[in-house]
Amino acid sequence: MTDFAIPAVLHDVSLRPYHTFGTNAVADCFIEVDTAAHLDYLIKRHLLKEPFVILGGGSNMVFADRYRGTVVRMATKGIRLVGQTDEYVLVEAEAGEEWDSFVRHCIGQGWYGLENLAAIPGTVGASAVQNVGAYGSEAGQYIDCVHAVGIESGKTLSFSHDECLFAYRDSVFKHSMAGRLVITSVVYRLHTRYIPNLSYSALAQTLRDEGIANPTAMQTFDIVTRIRWGRLPRPEEWGSAGSFFKNPVVTASHFEQLQKDYPGIAGYAFGDGYKLAAGWLIEQCGWRGRSLGRCGVWDKQALVLVNRGGCTFDEIVQLANAIIADVEARFGVTLQREVFFNE
Ligand code: EPU
Repeated sequence: MTDFAIPAVLHDVSLRPYHTFGTNAVADCFIEVDTAAHLDYLIKRHLLKEPFVILGGGSNMVFADRYRGTVVRMATKGIRLVGQTDEYVLVEAEAGEEWDSFVRHCIGQGWYGLENLAAIPGTVGASAVQNVGAYGSEAGQYIDCVHAVGIESGKTLSFSHDECLFAYRDSVFKHSMAGRLVITSVVYRLHTRYIPNLSYSALAQTLRDEGIANPTAMQTFDIVTRIRWGRLPRPEEWGSAGSFFKNPVVTASHFEQLQKDYPGIAGYAFGDGYKLAAGWLIEQCGWRGRSLGRCGVWDKQALVLVNRGGCTFDEIVQLANAIIADVEARFGVTLQREVFFNE
C-alpha cells in the first residue's frame, strides 16, 4: 500500500516539463511535494541537502544540462479566506497554487488588487520570492505575510510584510533566507472594492481605445492578458523565462549623459536615480530578433530570450553574456540577470 505521507524520490528526471525555458536539462533527483506531510517528511529526514532548488512553475530559472542536485517541486494546493473586514480580505494560498488561476479566482470572489498581474506564469510561492511585478503593480504591495518551514529546524516561520523586505524583483527570500526555508503559503490582503490601477500607459491607452472608462476588474485582467501575450512568447509555442534581465537603475548624472548621447532612451525616475528599459538598450545593440545557436532574442521584446528548439544551457549563457558585454560597451550599464541559474 502507498503511504501518501512519503513523497516519491525520482532519479535522472528530465526537467523539460517543469520549467518554461523548456531545455532538456536532467536533474539527479526530483521530488514533488503535494502535501504538507510530504514536506514534513523531507525536512525530518534531512533530505533537502545542498545543492537543491525549490521549484514553483519554473518560469524564472534555467538549469545546467545536468543538474547535479535535487529539484523539489512545490505542488501543494488550496485557497482559503483567513480574515475579513468591510474593506479587506486576507486570503491564504498554498505555495503550489498556479498564480494566474489564483488571480482569476480572487477576482471571481470579489477580492481585488492582483488584476494587473494577470497571466504571469508561475506559482503563489514564487510570487513572494520574486515580488513579481507588471503593468504598474507588484505582488509585494498586497502580501500580508508569508508562511514557511525552516529547513534545519523544521519549525514553522512567519514573515510579516515588512520582514519580507520587498523591492524591485527582490525579497528577503533571495538573500538572508535563501536556501534556509521552504515557503508553504502566502497571505494576500486584498480589497473588497475594485480600485483600478491604470498607471501603466499601455494599459490606460488600450482601455481608452476600447472606450472603457471604468473597467471592471475582469476587464482589466483580460486586457492585461491580451497586452502581455501580444508582446511575450506564448509558453506553449516558445520556451522562455519572461524578462531575462532586470531593468537597470543608473545615477541621475549617468542618465543625463545617456540622454545627451541617445535622446530616444527609455527611462524614468526611480529612487535617487533612473530606471532604464533594458529591452531598449538590448534592441539598440542590434540584438532584437537575433540568435546565437539555438537561443534567440524575442523579436517583439528584446528583454526576453527564447529557446528556438533544442537550446542548451551553454547557448543560453553565451547569448546572455554577449548581450551583457554589448550593452556594457555601448552604454556603460551592466545588466543583471533576472533569471536564476541552477548550475
Ligand atoms: N522596449 C524597447 N525594445 C524592446 C523592448 C522594450 O524599446 O525590445 C521599450 C518599450 O518601448 C518601452 C520600454 O522599453 O518604452 C518598456 O518596455 P515594456 O513595457 O515591454 O516593459 P519592460 O520594462 O521591458 C517590464 C517587466 C515585465 C513586465 C513589463 C510590463 C522587468 C525586468 N520586466 O518589462 O516583467 O511584464 O514591464 O509591466 O521589470 C518579467 O519580469 O518576466 C516580465 C515579463
